[in-house]
Amino acid sequence: MKDKVVLAYSGGLDTSCCIQWIKEKYDLEVICFSAFIGEVPDKEKLKKKALKSGASKAYIMDLKAEFAREYIVPSLWAHARYEGKYFLATSIGRPLIAKWLVDIAHKEGAKYVAHGCTGKGNDQVRIEVGVRTLDPKLTIIAPLKEWEFTCREEEIDYANARKIPIDVTKKSPYSIDNIWGIAIEAGILEDPLREAPEDAYVFTRAVKDTPAKPKYLDIQFVKGVPVAVNGKRMKLVALIEYLNAIVGTYGVGRIDIIENRLVGIKSREVYEAPAATVLVAAHEEIESMVFDRDYLHYKRLLSEKYAELVYYGLWFSDLKEGLDAFIARHQEKVTGMARIKLEKGSMHIVGRSAKKALYKETLATYSADDTFDRTAANGFVKLWGLPYEGTK
Ligand code: ARG
Repeated sequence: MKDKVVLAYSGGLDTSCCIQWIKEKYDLEVICFSAFIGEVPDKEKLKKKALKSGASKAYIMDLKAEFAREYIVPSLWAHARYEGKYFLATSIGRPLIAKWLVDIAHKEGAKYVAHGCTGKGNDQVRIEVGVRTLDPKLTIIAPLKEWEFTCREEEIDYANARKIPIDVTKKSPYSIDNIWGIAIEAGILEDPLREAPEDAYVFTRAVKDTPAKPKYLDIQFVKGVPVAVNGKRMKLVALIEYLNAIVGTYGVGRIDIIENRLVGIKSREVYEAPAATVLVAAHEEIESMVFDRDYLHYKRLLSEKYAELVYYGLWFSDLKEGLDAFIARHQEKVTGMARIKLEKGSMHIVGRSAKKALYKETLATYSADDTFDRTAANGFVKLWGLPYEGTK
């Protein structure tokens, strides 16, 4: 009996070629695994394709609910944005794939796992470090870093010669990732000066095509988790998908940046993350009502660190898990609502409320109802300034 390898398979040209290439090069039985955390394709069709391409078995799984619960929620709670901008959609999808590769390898008694990431990106790091963190005994095969093909055409020739089913005709040049966001990548975007073409966007409309009338979204959270929009309760995945659609209609959630990859390359990235944009803003807003100043200021530092760890492929690290625990510790206070106004390509927070709000109108007011003790302010300011007196 041959040894087995579990391959993270998307059905695209690269991973289709990987199946046959691994069989020839390593003489292994190839088991495919596909995780769907965005658009769910025809599962039967994909399974047939994997088998036709030479796999002995294919696990095709819709993992959106797990992805939302265990990867999106912690990232949302952490307000994680790499370099302050990127909501990490791809970055948080990879540890989920790593985890499942390991689980399936164990179930199948496979000694190997494989993936179709290139040697230039961050994804190879996330998958390989994830797998090694969870089970260092597994051997990782990364055909794209090993094989002889130097361009797509050579892969196509290889596939044709071996009757590997591929559909190169209607391949979109842009990659669709998951419900937390999409990364848009195409040749012309490699020129950082060139604006992304309108047809590259999937979730979001151009501002000129957005509705004339503004729209308000009251996003309700219970213990940190978004549960309803404008009074309509939804399960997490449905709520995120709903927000992607509605927020995208208003042209909100486009991000065009120069990003610093872990492997040292600067890359131009264009993202769409409509749901993430409003959910993180809404969650931050409710937190600003319920947490004290020190907590809020400190959390900003943690968010930065958290995003870095996730981007760098350290999802399963002790530090990242420790930060999760710290952040989760107080989410029970994050029950409330943030009101968002969508208008012609922009999004604004225009209101908020929270069950355990620390905000007190009687303290903040400048009206006659003021309960703030102004006489105490003199003593406070005096002592606060004492260490600095005459120091310059
Ligand atoms: N630059 C982003 C990241 O490292 C997104 C990459 C998405 N593209 C891809 N081909 N996987 O997370």
